Amino acid sequence: MRLLVVCLGNICRSPMAEGALRFRLQQAGLGDRVQVDSAGTGDWHVDEPPDRRAIATAASHGVDISTLRGRQLHVDDFQRFDWLLCADRTNLREVRARAPRDARAEIVLLREWAGEGTGAEIADPYTGGQSHFDTVWAQVDAAARHAAARFSRQRRPG
Ligand code: 4NP
Repeated sequence: MRLLVVCLGNICRSPMAEGALRFRLQQAGLGDRVQVDSAGTGDWHVDEPPDRRAIATAASHGVDISTLRGRQLHVDDFQRFDWLLCADRTNLREVRARAPRDARAEIVLLREWAGEGTGAEIADPYTGGQSHFDTVWAQVDAAARHAAARFSRQRRPG
């Protein structure tokens, strides 16, 4: 199973979600079975580490995302991944618009996929304060815990 989290810049929301997903999946013993990556629809932050506020917020929850580097969504991602998990509806619209005809990946909102209700988004914290980053962490970690539970159930026979 391969998951790709997508936001705009790939320096705030999607690397935080990548870190939370890796952490919770590893805790659940699913680290080998589920692969996680992240990308941005934009190219401004390619090869850059996550925003220092994103790194600090993840670190305060015991998750190191400092070694991640920004990359832009690539056309191959639509084949390589099972799920493209978008942070907000603008990302979702943009990703769907770029999907090739033979795309294999399902393109959805991360929080909706994680059972948080139709249309649930992760708001862009880039121009906000620490409380915005705290909110993003709470949202991505809830989604990550949901994902770990969902894949644990799927693994169990019967
Ligand atoms: P992200 O946040 O999409 O959560 O990574 C942003 C980061 C950078 C920019 C926009 C959003 N930017 O415009 O540079």
